Amino acid sequence: MLTSVSDIRQIAVCGAGTMGAGIAQVSAAAGFPTLLFDVRPEAVAAGIVMIRKNLDKAVEKGKISPEDREATLQRLQPCHQVSDCKAGLVIEAIVEKIPVKTALFSELAQYNPATTIFATNTSSLSVTAIAAGIPHPERVGGMHFFNPAHLMTLVEVVSGAQTAESVTQLLYAVVQHMGKTPVHVKDAPGFIVNRVARHYYLEAMEIAASGVADPAVIDRLLESAGFRMGAFALMDLIGNDVNYAVTRSLYEAFDQAPRFRPGAMQAALVEKGDLGRKTGKGFYKY
Ligand code: NAI
Repeated sequence: MLTSVSDIRQIAVCGAGTMGAGIAQVSAAAGFPTLLFDVRPEAVAAGIVMIRKNLDKAVEKGKISPEDREATLQRLQPCHQVSDCKAGLVIEAIVEKIPVKTALFSELAQYNPATTIFATNTSSLSVTAIAAGIPHPERVGGMHFFNPAHLMTLVEVVSGAQTAESVTQLLYAVVQHMGKTPVHVKDAPGFIVNRVARHYYLEAMEIAASGVADPAVIDRLLESAGFRMGAFALMDLIGNDVNYAVTRSLYEAFDQAPRFRPGAMQAALVEKGDLGRKTGKGFYKY
């Protein structure tokens, strides 16, 4: 089993969407040779374009030097086959569905040694369930980054029922090495932040749906009251499909408790494909 950060010679990030691209950037910037994999090659290309833009902005703001930008980009490699995803640590940020995540880890396990550690960026699903059926499930843990991953410092490090203590400790150390703030949480639906935040989104939709105020007014008030982003702007940033999937997963995990009932407004947007910033339209137009 790998035990120290220096044992990790390469990180593979699977899923090059909203979160995967940001996580790959953080990984490469922290000095790890980093593979970025997605089933859609165009997502990998778009992810690398986004990383370049983020790094350009950081150079403009004087946060990093042009040399740092180039070194980070050089450590980043696109990857188009699961069989090429060979790494000491794999971080997955793919679709929020247990069978899909488990299938990917199982496939990756065939091409990697038993020492490879698997981390899931799931927002709400059981790390224990994702690990079930994978050879050596004690090497699976959660690494829950926040959006945008290259800017947000908090990372929930999640230990499932079978996660080895040494794996949790190593994930914690990797997060620190990435310049982020790890917080250890036990496996529970939505962990901490997403479970508490559910009510931010759901109550805002409830207010809008009942006609008290429209989304733009609600957001303006929330932001004036000190929240960094209004609930609707935040759902559009996260992606309405992802946010909706997370709510559904908590709703089911808590035996359909009414407090976690998914919002009809968001369901309608998902149905129409208005997923937020990533599609140019959600609660707002972009
Ligand atoms: P996204 O929809 O932007 O990107 C997901 C990517 O995964 C897509 O490019 C898709 O082609 C790819 N993909 C799907 N199945 C795959 C497979 N089997 N192998 C390789 N690639 C595959 O989703 P997003 O928002 O990046 O979310 C990814 C994960 O991160 C989810 O588990 C989500 O709950 C979690 N998360 C999302 C946050 C957010 O604000 N969007 C915040 C924190 C966690």
